[in-house]
Amino acid sequence: MEIRKFVAPEFVCGAGALQLVGRYAANLAAKKALVVTDAGVLAAGWVAPVLASLQAAGVAQQVFSAVSPNPRDHEVMQGAALFVDSGCDILVAVGGGSPMDCAKGIGIVVAHGRHILEFEGVDTIRVPSPPLILIPTTAGTSADVSQFVIISNQQERMKFSIVSKAVVPDVSLIDPETTLSMDPFLSACTGIDALVHAIEAFVSTGHGPLTDPHALEAMRLINGHLVQMIANPGDIALREKIMLGSMQAGLAFSNAILGAVHAMSHSLGGFLDLPHGLCNAVLVEHVVAFNYSAAPERFKVIAETLGIDCRGLNHNQIRQRLVEHLIALKHAVGFHETLGLHGVGLSDIPFLSQHAMDDPCILTNPRASSLRDVEVVYGEAL
Ligand SMILES: [Fe+2]
Repeated sequence: MEIRKFVAPEFVCGAGALQLVGRYAANLAAKKALVVTDAGVLAAGWVAPVLASLQAAGVAQQVFSAVSPNPRDHEVMQGAALFVDSGCDILVAVGGGSPMDCAKGIGIVVAHGRHILEFEGVDTIRVPSPPLILIPTTAGTSADVSQFVIISNQQERMKFSIVSKAVVPDVSLIDPETTLSMDPFLSACTGIDALVHAIEAFVSTGHGPLTDPHALEAMRLINGHLVQMIANPGDIALREKIMLGSMQAGLAFSNAILGAVHAMSHSLGGFLDLPHGLCNAVLVEHVVAFNYSAAPERFKVIAETLGIDCRGLNHNQIRQRLVEHLIALKHAVGFHETLGLHGVGLSDIPFLSQHAMDDPCILTNPRASSLRDVEVVYGEAL
């Protein structure tokens, strides 16, 4: 076996896990927490119990909620200044990928005393961040278990990635009750994002025996329960299945890395400020069709895991069935978007493609991709 490493935080899963935040913060010897969140999560009511738990454990709090849906470099800098000025010594994020990535960015800036834009790339972190507790309120991003931080650079209209085990939190409190406040569209987008994490991790050139079982179980859980969950939004047992699937997908992709769907969706999300899950969902079947020939046996396993009967089918037929299955799943969860619907035109493709080629996720895509390849796939998704 090749030498492999597997990085994961301590995490606590289950209904009510959020209530443990005070105890964990106190165990980390915290005196004052910067609680990073956003307006939607505040309105949904998930910040109040976090503050109450911290209060009960004797940890003071400062809330920072000026975080956009795609967190921006200046928001990270603003949060870092607030952390320092208000004497905080621990970061707690409550929310989806945006507050969690913003909190990770704040930790990097506070530790180094430099601008967040200086840390783009892989393994650029030199100084440990303050303690970090993450509480996801969506089931899909997996920022709560991953080694990734994605920040928007508004001036350049692009997103950039920071990849380092230094951004893995000290603990994640994964509480499926928090996902009850997701609307159906957010549930669909984040659920498909999680499925894409599992698929990309399974065919990534960085996949291995430590990540494959998590990727396959994530596919089973999400494929088997996402449609039902969206039809029954108050069913906590279904929420748990999707949250567990999302977490397993996160463990897989954080260690196997991703592929062209994410490289292209980061570029798209930075350009148009669109939700990350939406970008992935628009692109997924086009990238799968492009990639299939580079890893046919692994894509066959994916097809079988998604419930496709592959007996008697050749690889062309399996590829077709897999593409049809992904489109049908998107439609079943109410997703009918295209890039064209969001104003992307042919003239945007060169800019989008150039930035996708610069994204670290393109490096682990199973099929080596040229600029022209990426342009063609964007064109198919219009
Ligand atoms: Fe993602």
